[in-house]
Amino acid sequence: MRIGSITLPNGLFAAPMAGVTDRPFRQLCKRLGAGYAVSEMVTSKRDLWKSLKTSRRANHDGETAPIAVQIAGTEPDEMADAARYNIERGAQIIDINMGCPAKKVCNKWAGSALMQDEALAARIVEAVVQACLPHGVPVTLKMRTGWCAQHRNALTIARAAEAAGVAMLTVHGRTREQGYKGLAEYDTIAAVKAAVSVPVVANGDIDSPRKAREVLARTGADAVMVGRAAQGRPWIFGDIAHFLATGEERATPLTQDVQNWLIEHLHDHYSLYGEFAGVRTARKHIGWAVRGLPGGETFRDHMNGLDSSAAQLQALGGFFQQLADTHERLPVSYGSVDAGSAGEAEEESAEQDIYLDAA
Ligand SMILES: Cc1cc2nc3c(=O)[nH]c(=O)nc-3n(C[C@H](O)[C@H](O)[C@H](O)COP(=O)(O)O)c2cc1C
Repeated sequence: MRIGSITLPNGLFAAPMAGVTDRPFRQLCKRLGAGYAVSEMVTSKRDLWKSLKTSRRANHDGETAPIAVQIAGTEPDEMADAARYNIERGAQIIDINMGCPAKKVCNKWAGSALMQDEALAARIVEAVVQACLPHGVPVTLKMRTGWCAQHRNALTIARAAEAAGVAMLTVHGRTREQGYKGLAEYDTIAAVKAAVSVPVVANGDIDSPRKAREVLARTGADAVMVGRAAQGRPWIFGDIAHFLATGEERATPLTQDVQNWLIEHLHDHYSLYGEFAGVRTARKHIGWAVRGLPGGETFRDHMNGLDSSAAQLQALGGFFQQLADTHERLPVSYGSVDAGSAGEAEEESAEQDIYLDAA
């Protein structure tokens, strides 16, 4: 699997998720089997680049290569500037977001709203590609299947983007109108794959190794991208790799290993966000990690009331120790938890403030 001149270890991608796929979480996914992880989107609005949130998003200290940064915006020149700015800060791949359904972003004519204006979409891609060319940085594009069921124009946009020089395309198998409702469809992704020669990544509702294999076979895509199913279960990438290589499902991880991964993740998380913001933003990661586990709901309620990192770590240690006493391996299997429960509300609230960017 290659993106321009960059070779990836595999075709298993962690999806960009605002408020989720920060550097600590991307590192964890890469460590547990993802070949690639894209940053949360960074606004193209220059006046917001110095804000705490955007600077955190542009912080790649210690991140495993390749560093891929997603940018979102509406003006070709601004998007080109944003690409250069992120390249200066370590981005080795620039991804353009044409897939975000959040109202805040779409009202400002960015994200998947751009799919409605094919000429503007093409101008943005051209401007970003031209900005990245002198630096040898490949540009990729992430989109949905179209604006609405009547306007599934992913194919048109894919062809235009390829002509403008993008090195890879990711397609989430839903329209903008769908948000996160209904099921992802894979026929449009297959059509895009058949029409272009750059690598195509299939995304949407991949929540198990079997589903990953099914989507790869159905679409002919070069890679799969997993979002919500990796929340709290970042080892899904290793499980998919194992299943694709052997046809066998791996046992669930040792409870002790899961505890260690989570604790290491949290230390990394607190050090990026600091104590106050770190404790608050860690709650969702901890909540996802205990989702579907015996006593998980009660523990999550208790944990949400703790307001120091030391208390969070201690409570987690106790929870997992007790679980390990009765379950050597994590008692959760694919399909037993609704990975889509993150759903629309969460995705919207996570993304809505991208332009407000309050620290
Ligand atoms: C909380 C959340 C935040 C998201 N943020 C972004 C984003 O910043 N950029 C983007 O292109 N897609 C974003 N997405 C969409 C995901 O990348 C992905 O396309 C979508 O979740 C479908 O994949 P899944 O079914 O594997 O979750 C977000 C999704 C969620 C749930």
